[in-house]
Amino acid sequence: MSLNTFGHLFRVTTWGESHGPALGATVDGCPPGIEVTEAQLQHWLDMRKPGQNKYTTQRREADAVRILSGVFDGRTTGTPVQLMIENTDQRSKDYSEIAQKFRPGHADITYFQKYGLRDYRGGGRSSARETAARVAAGGLARAALTALIPGIDLRGYMVQMGPRKADRARFDDAQISANPFWCPDPQAAEEWAGYLDTLRKSGESVGAVIEVVARGVPAGLGAPVYGKLDTDLAAAMMSINAVKGVEIGDGMATAALTGTENADEITMGKDGPVYSSNHAGGILGGISSGQDIVVRFAVKPTSSILTPRKTITVQGENTEIVTKGRHDPCVGIRAVPVGEAMMACVLLDHLLLHRGQIGDAGGRIGDTDRS
Ligand SMILES: Cc1cc2nc3c(=O)[nH]c(=O)nc-3n(C[C@H](O)[C@H](O)[C@H](O)COP(=O)(O)O)c2cc1C
Repeated sequence: MSLNTFGHLFRVTTWGESHGPALGATVDGCPPGIEVTEAQLQHWLDMRKPGQNKYTTQRREADAVRILSGVFDGRTTGTPVQLMIENTDQRSKDYSEIAQKFRPGHADITYFQKYGLRDYRGGGRSSARETAARVAAGGLARAALTALIPGIDLRGYMVQMGPRKADRARFDDAQISANPFWCPDPQAAEEWAGYLDTLRKSGESVGAVIEVVARGVPAGLGAPVYGKLDTDLAAAMMSINAVKGVEIGDGMATAALTGTENADEITMGKDGPVYSSNHAGGILGGISSGQDIVVRFAVKPTSSILTPRKTITVQGENTEIVTKGRHDPCVGIRAVPVGEAMMACVLLDHLLLHRGQIGDAGGRIGDTDRS
């Protein structure tokens, strides 16, 4: 069992630390013949990379991805794809003060308790720099999904910053990349800008809720018991740094609904079943229904803040810490492309599993020979 790998057939192993020479992902099981270039993957990495605007950390990392293996003449060969990103902005001195202290809200203390040592330079393996490797792997998964499911559309966006929610009545997909928060509600984005500016200047931070939606996913991905699509999506999202909650469809809110309100009614349409609503988030019994797959996750506020916090030293003394250095006031912003990448990897993994086990033999509603 490896604790650095996820996926069943599309298997992603990430490696590396924030202050080592490089980090990356080894992707095994990608189908052959998928067109992919470094420039294509770089597009997704640029969405996550630091220093894109004043609302994300001012660390300077090019996050330039290189494909070292598994691609020939611009197409995957079916062999392991090795993706590498060099670390270029490793200012270890920013972290020297915290070598003996555990930063509240970080993995410093638990990592030390587990392993008996730690790489205090930026959190080592626990650093969210690791998510760059997932985004690179997710770019490859997207390329494969686009080739195998024409018309699939996968996007993430922020629906809440701190207590401030975006208004769904104002959602416009075209707005998502038009503001620094990946917010589909332009008015909320404007309000969040002022709100986050004030927080940033006072050395504070805030949490966020991200939604990731996949449209055009065929019915049938997932399995009813231990291979549920929602189980794997929840695990994938929960594995992202700072994520403290995951919902599928209406999630926690379904507890307050009645059965009549919650169960999405089905009628027969011209091209197959039509659902009256999507409380289920596109998954029934662990299997995709053909509706939009909807996943939301809550990201906690950045723990590294300029406000002094009580903590202890490795020697067990009480002390205080102010985490200097360069940090995001709302890590939720940079978590958006990471959520998209995890969704892409899980969907491709389940598509490959489905093709392997079922092929083209699934039930066709309205086809009396096959149903
Ligand atoms: C893209 C991204 C960037 C992050 N950057 C920071 C950061 O600059 N400062 C910080 O305190 N936490 C940051 N985090 C969160 C920490 O990595 C995370 O809180 C920490 O590793 C402890 O893990 P946990 O919150 O999952 O328990 C970031 C998270 C993500 C997803």
